[in-house]
Amino acid sequence: MKSLVFSRQTAVGVTPPARHVKLPSVLLKFVMAVSGGFMLLYLVLHMVGNLKIFLGAAALDGYAAWLRTILEPVVPYGGTLWLVRFLLAVSVLAHIWSAALLTVRARQARPVKYAVRNKVPGSYAARTMRWGGVIVVLFVIYHLLDLTTGTLNPHGVHLQVYDNLHADFTPGRWYVTLFYVLAVVAVGFHIRHGLWSALQTLGWSNNARQARLKAVSTAFAVLLTVGFLSVPLAVTFGLV
Ligand code: HEM
Repeated sequence: MKSLVFSRQTAVGVTPPARHVKLPSVLLKFVMAVSGGFMLLYLVLHMVGNLKIFLGAAALDGYAAWLRTILEPVVPYGGTLWLVRFLLAVSVLAHIWSAALLTVRARQARPVKYAVRNKVPGSYAARTMRWGGVIVVLFVIYHLLDLTTGTLNPHGVHLQVYDNLHADFTPGRWYVTLFYVLAVVAVGFHIRHGLWSALQTLGWSNNARQARLKAVSTAFAVLLTVGFLSVPLAVTFGLV
């Protein structure tokens, strides 16, 4: 609050104190909701695209090749994908930046820790958001090195997505499948709570609608999680 208070007693000739512009928390929450919404849209499309594995190698690899040709020839080869990557990177940074600022503000508002931690499920979910977010970021770094650059993938050939996935999730590398499962479940929890918070920030929630919006957030997160999990599990168990 200090930064909102401007000194009105500045004497003539005395340099006034620097004015800090403090972004309202509701604006930070809005940034979180919009950046999260963009990432969520990407995830839905990504999950649906991944399901092409069930149609065979040609369908999946053809889909990966097609992604690079979107809006051609207006946009050069790979241009749209790079634009999406750029917007994703901006969204990730904006999301983390606003989350960090909101966390600092929450701490400043309560400098003395709770003696007893509240056991309400909602606040438990909110607390796990930070650690969940860290796990998701670590997973995405590994995931990019695994399936985008191919650096950590035993096959790792650009645009041979089907073979890359099979090399990744062979039964012998069960620990990679397990890591993906745990990370995707963390993504699911993050999305469930994030979506619910975003709907509140955007003002779509009221007392009557609360339970329904919570159910919608949970159903959405479960659907996304199951869709993502189906791919590594199907490969590991030899279903594709
Ligand atoms: C568990 C199931 C998943 C599978 C099988 C999978 C598969 C893939 C593959 C094959 C690529 C490379 C695509 C290409 O180069 O054309 C990719 C890229 C990517 N994935 Fe995933 N993914 C999964 C889950 C996730 C999750 C949960 C996230 C985010 C939290 C994510 C975020 C990304 C991102 C950001 C890229 C980079 C896009 C690009 O630059 O081309 N993926 N994924």
